[in-house]
Amino acid sequence: MDMRNIVMLTGAGVSAESGLATFRGPDGLWEGHRVEDVATPEAFARDPALVHAFYDARREKLGTVEPNAAHLALARLDAEWPGELLLVTQNVDDLHERAGSTRLVHMHGELKKGWCLRCNERFPWAGPMGTGAECPSCGTVGLVRPDIVWFDEMPYEMERIEDALRRCDLFVSIGTSGAVYPAAGFVQTARYVGAEALEMNLEPSLASVFFNQSRVGRASELVPQWVEEVLASPPCKGGD
Ligand code: APR
Repeated sequence: MDMRNIVMLTGAGVSAESGLATFRGPDGLWEGHRVEDVATPEAFARDPALVHAFYDARREKLGTVEPNAAHLALARLDAEWPGELLLVTQNVDDLHERAGSTRLVHMHGELKKGWCLRCNERFPWAGPMGTGAECPSCGTVGLVRPDIVWFDEMPYEMERIEDALRRCDLFVSIGTSGAVYPAAGFVQTARYVGAEALEMNLEPSLASVFFNQSRVGRASELVPQWVEEVLASPPCKGGD
């Protein structure tokens, strides 16, 4: 089969070896917090200081970590793949772009962006945000939130993602538990249109039954190996 259009989905597992915590650790907590205490609109309404402190700490942590071999291999694929390609990440860190990926969608938002609830602008953000942040666009103080898609909120760029999935020949999922929809359902859309589906994860994910192939191991080893394989057999010129 001529693999021309590739869609990849990454989750917290791709950044784990860079030193960023995954969401669903063995203790069921996310860096010591219950997800519903920090990652819901209700949590932000109830205790904005706690939610800001949590995301401020995670934003600060970004300055101490580097992309790993998996991010770098995906960026290489982006640069060298002659066909269509889209990297959809659930991660809010900036490691894919720091590695060099450009055909990239942050479906769950970005730690390094803010969103003003008064004027609805989104803008780059560095450093702490806190409850007293001033919107660089309208100047309102105290209504800036992290530009993160929380539970019960709509992920970004779903139309672009669905369109890419409906046209893909190969869907690849890396380092995600398959616990959170709609991302966990992307494999089914891809399979429905006849695409091959490959999963690379430390353990079979909750969605692994939908994949043609599951490779179990560390992203930093599996992903560079897979990218080598893919680049060794580029799509035929003029093929479809
Ligand atoms: N290599 C490959 N996979 C790994 C590695 C690694 N080095 N380390 C961990 N994993 C796997 C885990 O086995 C797990 O299946 O990565 C997966 C991470 O799963 P989650 O912690 O559930 O993260 P993710 O799937 O990205 O979560 C989805 O949940 O709370 C939300 O919005 C948040 O985007 C997040 C979404």
